[in-house]
Amino acid sequence: MKDFIAALPKAELHLHIEGSFEPELMFEIAQRNQIEIPYKTIDEVKKAYQFSCLQDFLDIYYAGAGVLIQEKDFYDLAMAYYQKCYENNVIHTEIMFDPQTHTERGIAFETVINGLQKARLDAKEKWGINSLFIMSYLRHLSEESAFETLKQSLPYKDLITSVGLDSSEMGNPPAKFKNVFEASVKEGYIPVAHAGEEGPAEYIWEAIDILKVARIDHGNRCLEDENLVQEIVKRNLALTVCPLSNLELRNTDVMTNHPLKRLLDRDIKATVNSDDPAYFGGYMNANFQAVQEALDLSKEDIITLVKNSFNYSFATDEQKKYYLEKVYEAVADFN
Ligand code: ADE
Ligand code: ZN
Repeated sequence: MKDFIAALPKAELHLHIEGSFEPELMFEIAQRNQIEIPYKTIDEVKKAYQFSCLQDFLDIYYAGAGVLIQEKDFYDLAMAYYQKCYENNVIHTEIMFDPQTHTERGIAFETVINGLQKARLDAKEKWGINSLFIMSYLRHLSEESAFETLKQSLPYKDLITSVGLDSSEMGNPPAKFKNVFEASVKEGYIPVAHAGEEGPAEYIWEAIDILKVARIDHGNRCLEDENLVQEIVKRNLALTVCPLSNLELRNTDVMTNHPLKRLLDRDIKATVNSDDPAYFGGYMNANFQAVQEALDLSKEDIITLVKNSFNYSFATDEQKKYYLEKVYEAVADFN
């Protein structure tokens, strides 16, 4: 199964570029920017990556992102992730980035987007990887700050496909961002939002009814509300599920209890994603392997998950057709 997973081309739909920041690169960039970080060795960093909840993780994640200053830093960060895509047979990826994590520290929006865009072009040329960008608003900040971010993004609108909502979920319901999501959609951005990761099913209702999301990030807790499950199926909304993240942030106690199989059994269009792989111990193949082993997923289940990843991506219909042919070819070659 491990080889089968590795052999299949995949799309990743839930990945925070700041969450792909490996300690080795963090040390290198901190040094060249002459920024002190509170760790002396890689081992010390890894030891600090023990989380008891989302907020625990976010505190460390924002601190790590604080060493990113120059356009080249964002370029290097993204290139390191694209290299992992290549190694994991991820041929299409939709990358989330948090502008406010940087603009709040005085880094210009253009520094961030220019670094990411250069990497996108180089990754396409070097590895043939296609990627889209999802600009995520930080929900612990105000809607006004999200509006400011929306405004800053407009000169780069053609480079950004979608807007998302991430950061501390509890106490920051989707409804808080109703107006900025409406304005973002008017600008042509496709709305998505984290909901039901730590927060209750009610937040998923708000994401679909108020923010009118095209996809739900995480969404695991929908299983607590039968009407919601039926609504998600009826509206054909996909969930971007992140197994190792759920385990590391204790939204799942053990992988054998992970809801992925139950979601698939309810005919929910689930996908597998890595979220913040540098912090949660694995990229795409590792996430697939972890759930495959723990939930005893069949080859058919894996194929369904991979097909969902392309079908529910924001790629064009023509691209989707091409990707699905690649999947069928890989399955045939493997047998
Ligand atoms: N930002 C980065 N990773 C996140 C996650 N798993 N949930 C919410 N915000 C995030
Ligand atoms: Zn996430």
